[in-house]
Amino acid sequence: MVYQGPFTAAIDVGCGSGQSTHILSPHFTSVTGLDISQAQITEATKLGTGTNVFFKVSGAEKLPFSECSLQLVTAGQACHWFDLPKFYEEVDRILVPGGVLALYGYAFPQPIYGDLTEKLYDIINYVYEKDTGGYWGSGRKDVDAAYSHQKFSIPYSSNTRDDTHYVDKSATVAELTGYITSWSGFQNFKAKNGDVAAQEILDRFQNRIMSTLNLTTSPEDTQLCLRFKFFLIMGRKPLS
Ligand SMILES: C[S@@+](CC[C@H](N)C(=O)[O-])C[C@H]1O[C@@H](n2cnc3c(N)ncnc32)[C@H](O)[C@@H]1O
Repeated sequence: MVYQGPFTAAIDVGCGSGQSTHILSPHFTSVTGLDISQAQITEATKLGTGTNVFFKVSGAEKLPFSECSLQLVTAGQACHWFDLPKFYEEVDRILVPGGVLALYGYAFPQPIYGDLTEKLYDIINYVYEKDTGGYWGSGRKDVDAAYSHQKFSIPYSSNTRDDTHYVDKSATVAELTGYITSWSGFQNFKAKNGDVAAQEILDRFQNRIMSTLNLTTSPEDTQLCLRFKFFLIMGRKPLS
């Protein structure tokens, strides 16, 4: 038997700027985004808290909710930073019987462009593995492995994984280049090697993409379809 509701409360742990929190708001009476970083919570709050969306600074390892008070706990592209045994213990304390823990993440975007799809991905991968390869935290490997490592196993016998979801977004080549600046590996490279070396990576990346596409348009006017592939692991707390 599955839990039938009511769906009163959910939390989104490691909510960052809050986009992953807002998605839940139509389905619950109240949704709270939590993040260990005050700066992220300040950003998230700027997005507008709506009538049923709240944000709070909190680490994943001690969650400010009472026993059996939540129907859903999510973490999007975040749980690889958590102390997982402590997080799982807290989740078990605050979920109602039949409540669900859902952990998901996504791979780097893949430009979909006919026969050139693979070549374009290789160019992104070059920046990831070669240019910024030594500048990523250990958690990145867990995302690459789509949380398949044993340490992510959700400690409930009712659990599942789903790798079928993806989102296609349209973006220009210039926007894709801008997206690379958001990578923590790129930011770490920049902090160590300076703005000029970082800009060289971006320029080389953008030039390689443009020459592979072999178009006459500018990077700002060249549209690509970017595919973000998601992976999701879920577990349900036993009803009794
Ligand atoms: C890549 S962001 C993901 C943001 C958002 N969930 C999304 O999907 O766009 C990861 C977030 O996890 C937060 N984080 C890292 N360690 C944490 C911890 N132990 N407890 C709570 N949040 C944490 C970081 O501050 C960061 O905002």
